Amino acid sequence: HIHPALLSGGSGTRLWPMSRSLFPKQLLNLTSDRSMLQETALRMPGGAGYAPPLVICNQEHRFTIAEQMRALGTEPAAIVLEPVGRNTAPAATVAALMTQARDPDGIVVLLPADGAIRDVEAFRAAVDIAAEVAADDLLVTFGVRPHEAHTGYGYICRGDALEGRDGAFRVARFVEKPDRATAEGYLADGRYLWNSGIFAYRAGTFLAEIERLQPDMLAACREAVAAAEKDLDFTRLEPEAFKRSPSDSIDYAVMEHTARAAVVPVDFGWSDVGSWDALWALGDKDDAGNHLEGDVIIQDVRNSYIRSEKSMVAAIGLDNIVIVETPDALLVADRRQSQAVKEIVDRLKASG
Ligand code: GDD
Ligand code: MG
Repeated sequence: HIHPALLSGGSGTRLWPMSRSLFPKQLLNLTSDRSMLQETALRMPGGAGYAPPLVICNQEHRFTIAEQMRALGTEPAAIVLEPVGRNTAPAATVAALMTQARDPDGIVVLLPADGAIRDVEAFRAAVDIAAEVAADDLLVTFGVRPHEAHTGYGYICRGDALEGRDGAFRVARFVEKPDRATAEGYLADGRYLWNSGIFAYRAGTFLAEIERLQPDMLAACREAVAAAEKDLDFTRLEPEAFKRSPSDSIDYAVMEHTARAAVVPVDFGWSDVGSWDALWALGDKDDAGNHLEGDVIIQDVRNSYIRSEKSMVAAIGLDNIVIVETPDALLVADRRQSQAVKEIVDRLKASG
């Protein structure tokens, strides 16, 4: 069976002030009238051959997540609660352990809950290919054609075609979040793809790699799963054991080091909803290139993203501006600098 595992632990600080620690971006309705977590769950085919999804999240978000899954009419296999964030590698390890216990040959499709995909049919076709490749004991990535030297993504260098597996290649090299100059080199090279952050593998393949590369992580996660407690609809990882796990992402901890990586190049309209600028690019726009949400009135405004949650927002004579109004905070920024919102949030956190 194919077991979707939804990762919903990030906080999405670049989408402040909408995204807050109690309401991170993947739980907000930013791209449609559903949250990105809900969109991600609905995107998987379901039906024969597919197990219900596992959701792995921080315990703080459990009620919102349970409610959002219920609203879809989806009964998750489990909602697994982390006492603290340890990044994506331990979360993926927990998903693999729980999947293997249910289905020794099960294939995990690891899904970040913070991306948008335009062409769901193409996505499903890619998952079908990836599941076949994963059965060959490979860790399958989904590679997106890059169009800029973005430094927030992993880069996958495509190697030889996999024999007998149309549309899949060996990974020659995986580099997580390179610096700008390196990313520019990769863009010019032509063989590199962006890592979409979605993975497919047999639970057993992943666990064998984690055992080799991150034995302490595996030991901590194994103990946290073995001593996990059921609490209402939730599965609570044993906190002391989980806290002992090293913190790392699947990209740095596994993908940069494994020799078992494969890539399925995809063209399904993927975008990482990582900043206000990304949401502007994704959204519908008027003739002047504006994306407006809520009670907004404009005059002589172009190429801007303006969102009102509570008050009426009026704007005059702007170009390339982001305005996001919420009940207790207001952001006004140059749209092309909207990545820097993260720095503001870091300063807010530091000042308590
Ligand atoms: N359960 C859980 N626990 N989930 C987590 C945690 C955690 O501690 N940390 C992050 N996540 C979730 C996030 O909510 C998101 O859905 C997903 O895991 C990926 O984490 P990010 O923190 O958003 O990773 P990233 O965007 O910096 O990088 C990854 O995604 C890029 C594409 O968007 C990498 O895989 C890159 O290689 C990739 O290009
Ligand atoms: Mg991300």
